[in-house]
Parts: sequence; structure tokens; C-alpha cells
Amino acid sequence: MKVLVIGAGNMGLTYAEGMASSPLLSKHKLRIFDTDPKKIETLRQQPQFDVYDTLDDCLPKADLVFIAVKPYHSEDLFAKMRPMLNDDQIFVSLMAGVTIESIQDHLGRKKVVRTMPNLPAQVGKGVTSYTEAAEISKIELLMVRNLLDTTGTSIHVDTENFIDASTGISGSGPAYVFYFMQSMLEAALKMGFSDYDSKVLVSNTFEGAIELFNQNDISPKSWIAKVASKGGTTQAAIDSMEDNNVKQLIQDAAYAAFDRAVELGKK
Ligand SMILES: NC(=O)c1ccc[n+]([C@@H]2O[C@H](COP(=O)([O-])OP(=O)(O)OC[C@H]3O[C@@H](n4cnc5c(N)ncnc54)[C@H](OP(=O)(O)O)[C@@H]3O)[C@@H](O)[C@H]2O)c1
Repeated sequence: MKVLVIGAGNMGLTYAEGMASSPLLSKHKLRIFDTDPKKIETLRQQPQFDVYDTLDDCLPKADLVFIAVKPYHSEDLFAKMRPMLNDDQIFVSLMAGVTIESIQDHLGRKKVVRTMPNLPAQVGKGVTSYTEAAEISKIELLMVRNLLDTTGTSIHVDTENFIDASTGISGSGPAYVFYFMQSMLEAALKMGFSDYDSKVLVSNTFEGAIELFNQNDISPKSWIAKVASKGGTTQAAIDSMEDNNVKQLIQDAAYAAFDRAVELGKK
């Protein structure tokens, strides 16, 4: 099986690296194509990839094609790809808000899997949701899943609505976590901690809380109850968040990303 990744940016390169370091693809089975000459130059120094700067040389013989360009570059790209395709090829889109139907229409091919990845894939801790067109067989879907799992874990969803919804939770989610981290860092700095100490305090607090959550089958709500005692310091912080409707604001933010993904899909 020959895999081609189109677009060697944050996501495309991450998936390419995940697949290259897995036992699933032998050498010279992974191709990368990008239009940025600087990226191509850098990638050519890396022996695990076969790097291309024209589609004609790499696309016609690829069995599985990951599409990892920004959504606004997709139509141009699809128009260039279309004359070089065959009916057996499988297209895996990593693009936010681009629907399966629109990919099928632009490419004139049916076998499309749509995914929503997230950035922790860069450290092997990604979560990718995915769904497929009716023309994808069970075996083909399993093959795609195995490749997606080289960057972390994946969940299958039945409809594209859940792909847009997971954009609001996991796709954009790392940015919400960083927003929270940034807010706590700024609070620590205001309290007088050094840059270094602020970073240690915040990053270890996040890491420790995640570890507790992962190692025990207890909800975040129950963990809050364990940290907060009546009339104490944590309760003062939680009361302040509740008074300011922070939970609702976070949910509104997740829905804003979800709605934007749906809107992008209509364009
Ligand atoms: N980043 C995230 O956290 C995240 C999360 C979920 C989903 N996604 C999705 O992942 C996709 C890729 O995002 P990204 O952050 O990886 O973008 P990115 O870093 O900008 O990477 C895209 C790459 O594709 C290249 N490119 C543009 N047009 C091309 C073409 N016609 N043929 C080949 N290569 C082309 C770009 O080159 P230039 O730089 O020269 O344009 C760039 O190197 C997006 O559709 C996004 O919705 C991203």
C-alpha cells in the first residue's frame, strides 16, 4: 500500500511522522507532497519520506491519499488532483468543515473518509474522530483507522455532524486548554512568581490533574469535591467561576467552534 500525504504542515507532517515510525508502512511507501519549496527542501533531508514537488509524480500511483491543506486551499488542490485519480483510491481528509459530499463532487471519486484530528497527535497523544462515505468497505476503514492510530487514538462516529461536533471539543479543544493555562500563568506572574516558577506550577498542576483523572474512574466534578472543602480556598475559586458563569462560557465557546465547522461545510 502506497500512502501519499498532501500538505506537510502541522497536521500532514504529524501524520506522516506517525505513519513513518509505525511498522505499518515499509520504506518508500510513504510519499509527501507540498507546494512550499522551503518545506520540500527540509523534508528531503529526512530519509523516512519520499518527497515530491509535483502531483503528477506521486498521486496517480498512491493507494491512500491524506489531504492536509487548509480548507481554503482545497478547491484549487481538488481541481489539480481530479484528472490524475482512479476509482480505487481512498481519500482521507483532515480538513475542518469540508464535507464528504463536497470532496466527492470536486474529486469525482467516491471513497472518502473524513476526520477531525487534533494537535497532540504531534506527541502521539492525538485523538482523531472519523466517519466514512458509504463506498468505503469495512476492511478499508480498518486500514485507515490503523493509520490514524499511529498518532494516538481514534473514535469512529456515525455522521458528519459528530465530526463538526468533535471540532468543537477535541479539534479546537487544545486551544481552550492553552487558554486556561495562559490565564493561570498570567495570574501566577501577577502574584510575583518568576517565569520559570509560574511555568512549573501551572504545567505540573495540569499534568497531575490529568494523571489523576486518567488513573481513576472518577468524574471531574467528584475531583473538584475532593479538592474543595466548605469555606476553603478552592471553594472560593470555584464559587468565583460559578458566579461568573465560566462553565456556560466554555460550553458556548465549544459550540461556537462546532457552529463554525458546520458553517464552513456549507460554503
Ligand atoms: N492545526 C490544527 O490544530 C488542526 C486541528 C484540526 C484540523 N486541522 C486541519 O488540518 C488541515 C491542515 O492544517 P495545518 O494546521 O496542518 O495547516 P498548515 O500548517 O498550513 O499546513 C498546510 C500545508 O499545505 C501546504 N499547501 C497549501 N496548498 C497546497 C497544495 N495545493 N498542495 C500541497 N500543499 C499545499 C501549505 O503550504 P503553504 O504554507 O505554502 O500554504 C502547508 O505547508 C486544515 O484543513 C485544518 O482544518 C488542523
